[in-house]
Amino acid sequence: MKILTLETTCDETAAAVVTDKLEVLSSVVASQDDLHQRFGGVVPEIASRAHVERILPVIDEALRLANTTLGELDAVAVANTPGLAGSLLVGLAAAKTIALVADIPLLAVNHLQAHIYACRIASGEDVFPCVGLIVSGGHSSLYRCDSAVDFHLLGGTIDDAAGEAFDKVASMLGLGYPGGPAIQNAAADGDARAVDFPRPFLRDEDRLGFSFSGLKTSVRYHLADPGARDIDVSSLSRRQICDIAASFQEAVVDCLVGKAELALRQTGLRILCVGGGVAANSRFRERLEQSAAANGFRLFIPPLPLCTDNAVMGAIAVERFKAGKYESLDLDVLPGLVR
Ligand code: KG4
Ligand code: ZN
Repeated sequence: MKILTLETTCDETAAAVVTDKLEVLSSVVASQDDLHQRFGGVVPEIASRAHVERILPVIDEALRLANTTLGELDAVAVANTPGLAGSLLVGLAAAKTIALVADIPLLAVNHLQAHIYACRIASGEDVFPCVGLIVSGGHSSLYRCDSAVDFHLLGGTIDDAAGEAFDKVASMLGLGYPGGPAIQNAAADGDARAVDFPRPFLRDEDRLGFSFSGLKTSVRYHLADPGARDIDVSSLSRRQICDIAASFQEAVVDCLVGKAELALRQTGLRILCVGGGVAANSRFRERLEQSAAANGFRLFIPPLPLCTDNAVMGAIAVERFKAGKYESLDLDVLPGLVR
């Protein structure tokens, strides 16, 4: 049984062919990083237009690599929530068209649940029930995941997502876009104790939440006077830039790891699944592994290509296919987060 999965929630145009046994027959991801680079972040209008140009070649390539035709597909799945409205619509329109033309079921994918399901796909193990930590450019949230499709929000960021903070701080430091990998590289040559940036809520045992906006502002004030219009990092040495990157990264990682530990304590669950682009961060992965060893919980974290946006994780649709939860062609996009 073969399912074509589509992913266009943000700025990656992706398609994959997977089986009901969670085998990956093909996976294609067309990144738009080059288009958004000069703006230092994703520009929604540019993202949706680029999806329109790329979606058909990406689908063709995914089918070709899987040695499959439209006629051999058993279902088509698409991420319809959450994400950028214009981006989501492109994937949804493509999926509906394929469902209609090939006369196969249409399946809906929740992008956040799919990020956690990447742990299930990569490990081949039943990871539920677990605490799910999703850290991406748009989300930083902790869930109690009773099953693949039964999530309860435990807490999340009250302002920016961790990935957004990485992107903005990298932009301030002149390190380029996307900011996560750039900060990680610079941090490798820096001293994480050089600057004592704030760790909001970290010591508050009652609060399962994050706040990265103030941390971002702290970096800005470290680089320029509060009243200054522009940031000029040209006078800083490479060493100073790397120290700031490492100190910022450590502050984010402290908050993420600390609150994941708190969520495990509060729920009594013994499994942590981590997903989203920031889960690709090597320091974060290292600290999570240390925490799992010290606190005795099982850690599932996908390999890097399954952390950042991809269509393989859309294999979560297999669960809905098996349950007969097909969508009608009236299926809409839900850009906001459904709790
Ligand atoms: O999950 P994702 O690909 O897209 C969203 O759904 O948002 O996450 C993208 C985010 C970006 O903010 C990017 O800077 C961040 O993930 N990211 C990283 C790393 N690789 C990607 N953040 C920290 N370290 C990394 N190595
Ligand atoms: Zn994502």
